Amino acid sequence: MPATTMDQLVSLCKRRGFIFQNADIYGGLQGVYDYGPLGVELKNNLKAAWWRSMVYERDDVEGLDSAILTNQKVLHYSGHEDTFSDPMVDCKKCKGRFRADHINGKCPNCGSTDLTEPRPFNLMFKTAIGPVDDGSSFGYLRPETAQAIFTQFKNVIDSTSRKLPFGIAQIGKSFRNEITPRNFIFRVREFEQAELEFFIEPGEDEKWHEIWKENRIQWWIDQGLKKEHMNIYTTPKEDLAHYAKACYDIEYQFPHGMEELEGIANRTDYDLGNHTKAQEEMNLTSHCHKNPDSTQKLCIMDDNNKWVVPFVIEPSMGIDRGVLAVMTEAYTEEDLGEGNSRIVLKLKKHLAPIKVAVIPLKKNNEQIMSKCHEIKKNLLKLGIGRVALENTGNIGKAYRRHDEIGTPLCITVDFETIEQQPESVTIRDRDTMEQHRVNIADLPNYLREYFL
Ligand code: GLY
Repeated sequence: MPATTMDQLVSLCKRRGFIFQNADIYGGLQGVYDYGPLGVELKNNLKAAWWRSMVYERDDVEGLDSAILTNQKVLHYSGHEDTFSDPMVDCKKCKGRFRADHINGKCPNCGSTDLTEPRPFNLMFKTAIGPVDDGSSFGYLRPETAQAIFTQFKNVIDSTSRKLPFGIAQIGKSFRNEITPRNFIFRVREFEQAELEFFIEPGEDEKWHEIWKENRIQWWIDQGLKKEHMNIYTTPKEDLAHYAKACYDIEYQFPHGMEELEGIANRTDYDLGNHTKAQEEMNLTSHCHKNPDSTQKLCIMDDNNKWVVPFVIEPSMGIDRGVLAVMTEAYTEEDLGEGNSRIVLKLKKHLAPIKVAVIPLKKNNEQIMSKCHEIKKNLLKLGIGRVALENTGNIGKAYRRHDEIGTPLCITVDFETIEQQPESVTIRDRDTMEQHRVNIADLPNYLREYFL
């Protein structure tokens, strides 16, 4: 059974070094978290799996890594300055501020009904750019990675000669000044997104929207999520983001409830249409703001030698939510009988922070230690990911630790290794806890087959 409470995960994350509250020693910064020694590995592995599936395994997607600091004009013409806000109410008694649609006419903090009228609150972080902070030169920390994909559209097609359909993928940090960050790393102010903007012929959007929905559900299953723990939610028209014609949410059964893990939006020609110059020549279908500032036509020649502004389908996932989802699913408490139990993180092996732990049966035996170092060094060359020398605690504690952090295999070097020929070690499987002996000479092939 997956984790049923957030406390189970929060406690594991802190105890084993996956995720810490930011600025913990000063009481924390609300809605901001840091990834610890194992969290950074898990997160990197999830990002690598997304990049592999979106860029390397396809022939129609290019990557991008754009800046976080964003020119004000980009977010003006994207519509975020005007519309990227939540209606907020202030409690006149306790001065708390809440989303109007999250409360029922009553302050959730003190219960007062003396509230202000709802007012829009912009979610973007505005920041001074340059040496003078007098309000004349400012930009934003991006609220989504998508916008730079639209503003770099022409540079990418000019440098790659891409034709429709094709996509641009990006992974990176985004920032939203959430009023009430909550549920651990689920709703935070600084987060990481993995977004694909997939450009298609106008009119083919509904077909591609379905294709991407199916593709993304399968990807999440490949990351270990069970289909029965997911739900596809079709956003009602009145709740759509300002740029979207339609949106599917892939929802996951988090410990705090069934909530959005990834959105797959049909953004039509809204974004390229808003950022292009010569809008009047473009046959735009979206209602766009007049843009006298853009210097580039954001269109592409189609198969009939006609210039078109492509439509866009956008699968957009939250990496932090992804980490939370795969940890929730993998978290298992097992009863081992006779009053014994263990916590084991049954992560898919490609996501596991440490792939193999090499453990000495006796830490103060020089021959055993030197064999451990040699094995670790040789296994690293296989390119399977992190191989760690585990020389803390006794062997039982080492196995428990690696169960809890999801290490698929533990290799133990014991006296038989150094005393008998051919040299051999034991390999212990995380999920079955079974152990068997393998000759050291056979380890590379064994592990290549297991991991690659
Ligand atoms: N780009 C979609 C989002 O950030 O929600």
